[in-house]
Amino acid sequence: AQTVTRDAHGVVTVGGIDVKTLAERFGTPAYFIDEADFRTRARAWRTAFGPDADVFYAGKAFLSRAVVRWLYEEGLNLDVCSGGELSTALAGGMPADRIAFHGNNKSVEEITKAVEAGVGRIVLDSFQEIVRVAHIASSMGKRQRVQIRVTVGVEAHTHEFIATAHEDQKFGIPLADGQAAEAVRRALQLDGLELIGIHSHIGSQIFDMSGFEVAAHRVVGLLRDIRDEHGVELPEIDLGGGLGIAYTSDDDPREPHEIAKALTEIVSRECEGARLRTPRISVEPGRAIVGPTAFTLYEVGTIKPLQGLRTYVSVDGGMSDNIRTALYDAEYSVCLASRTSDAEPMLVRIVGKHCESGDIVVRDAFLPADLAPGDLIAVPATGAYCRSMASNYNHALRPPVVAVADGDARVIVRRETEDDLLRLDVG
Ligand code: LLP
Repeated sequence: AQTVTRDAHGVVTVGGIDVKTLAERFGTPAYFIDEADFRTRARAWRTAFGPDADVFYAGKAFLSRAVVRWLYEEGLNLDVCSGGELSTALAGGMPADRIAFHGNNKSVEEITKAVEAGVGRIVLDSFQEIVRVAHIASSMGKRQRVQIRVTVGVEAHTHEFIATAHEDQKFGIPLADGQAAEAVRRALQLDGLELIGIHSHIGSQIFDMSGFEVAAHRVVGLLRDIRDEHGVELPEIDLGGGLGIAYTSDDDPREPHEIAKALTEIVSRECEGARLRTPRISVEPGRAIVGPTAFTLYEVGTIKPLQGLRTYVSVDGGMSDNIRTALYDAEYSVCLASRTSDAEPMLVRIVGKHCESGDIVVRDAFLPADLAPGDLIAVPATGAYCRSMASNYNHALRPPVVAVADGDARVIVRRETEDDLLRLDVG
């Protein structure tokens, strides 16, 4: 899916440094993120949507203070969904009014912290939360800007675990049976809340724009009903994130400017039809910005050819640094990174070192038959939901994230140590 650059010796390079040097300096497994690529993608989204819209990077895909600084400098806002992400966003210097706070079960402590910090918006996810946030804001003498997240009832064409707009699930308030309209009614009555808009997120790793079209149609329908009932035109709508990226060459992602054009046109058309002023649009891409910008570098360990089946290639990481293959049947590609080879291709399965057979990083791939222990292999497009979903299973030490730019590499999240693990064990 992704093109790699190689130096004169056939070694893969990133940001002007070859992977052998990187492995020597930082060890493996490790994630290497191309800062220039990240900034270019973030800027492309920002530019595509222009000054009349906002782009909130979804921090759950990958968040660190360095990333927050890059986003700030490129003019993006930030979507967080836990107290931990909020703290990182603030520690990285994102102004609170450029932060949106999400979540289906925000704690009182998290809400209090968000209101106190002055976040730009809290996205309300349930009837109980409408009252809870209003109460907390009022008790601090504040009026919190909020959106209400609705489920529009579309079936996004993606894995069940990452589809979020059908009604039978934990996120949002259904549009069906006037439930969202009732939520709006309640929010408008509460002094602690300033209702600024409606939010919809239909799912993740989506290529087909038709789901967004249906979502926009239904959200604008709700804005029209709100205007008719209350005489107010809510000024904002957020269409969430979810745009797919290329993990393998079968995937054909859309460019930010195409997405911006499509979404802006849909919303304007729908609003014209409903005779509403076009609201300010915001979006929340996570994967589409960070996903393609990083790869994981592993060292090849045991190689086990199984006659007539395939060759199992074990690497020094696995499901603890990339759970996506096991969890979603996600597909990745892999390449030999420390050299080139003219040997015949062999069918391999890249597996980790964890104690279960589902510990697969790349299900099916071809690598040269002369692959040997000590070779470095790279799995591209691991910038999103790999480090952020990494675990300590089998007391694995979570790998570092190294930012590479202009021939310079620096650790932005360090490798865990056994001391880190033992520090938590206080028994
Ligand atoms: N906004 C909201 C409200 C979300 O829930 C999400 C993702 C996003 C934005 C960003 O979606 P993105 O543009 O990154 O697709 N762990 C899964 C993905 C879970 C996505 C959860 N919500 C995976 O590895 O595929």
